[in-house]
Amino acid sequence: MKFVVVYFSKTGTTKEIALKIAKDLNCEAIEVVADKEYGSYFSAVLKSGAEFLLNKSISYKNEKPDLSTYDSIIVGFPIWYNKMPKVLESYLSDSNIQGKSLIPFCTSGGSTIKYSVTQLRKKFSNVKVQNEMNYPEIKDAEKYSAWLKRINSSNYLSQQD
Ligand SMILES: Cc1cc2nc3c(=O)[nH]c(=O)nc-3n(C[C@H](O)[C@H](O)[C@H](O)COP(=O)(O)O)c2cc1C
Repeated sequence: MKFVVVYFSKTGTTKEIALKIAKDLNCEAIEVVADKEYGSYFSAVLKSGAEFLLNKSISYKNEKPDLSTYDSIIVGFPIWYNKMPKVLESYLSDSNIQGKSLIPFCTSGGSTIKYSVTQLRKKFSNVKVQNEMNYPEIKDAEKYSAWLKRINSSNYLSQQD
């Protein structure tokens, strides 16, 4: 049962949590870095708004992704426009993730992960999107360790399918 944490973070909030998860699960963390600079908050609002409207793939600096050797992919991102940023969606689309389990977590200014879960299920119909974790719940030590236990046991059970 092999985990990987794949994340995008503009200002570091998601990154800090992603690295903690990777440390606690003793697994690799992959930061997805967009080719473009999103710049200030205002500039990011404009640029990402255009990305959602155009709905095209967004290029990134990472090498061609291959997540085929992992069983469960923990996907971390800031909520942008109630969704997962397009660059991370693009990276996952280019990865070999058929039949895998995707475990999303987010950070946000108040929005929940609900619409990102819908976005992921719509985009990746051949993937199990489960055990999503909201913000700020993930910062709560008890909720966090219960979640880690849950994803560990789901991962174990899916290996027995
Ligand atoms: C372009 C943009 C759009 C955002 N849209 C939302 C939103 O719809 N709902 C929300 O609660 N927070 C929104 N935020 C706030 C971020 O989700 C929040 O600050 C997040 O924790 C930043 O994570 P990071 O430091 O990993 O980039 C937005 C921030 C940016 C830059």
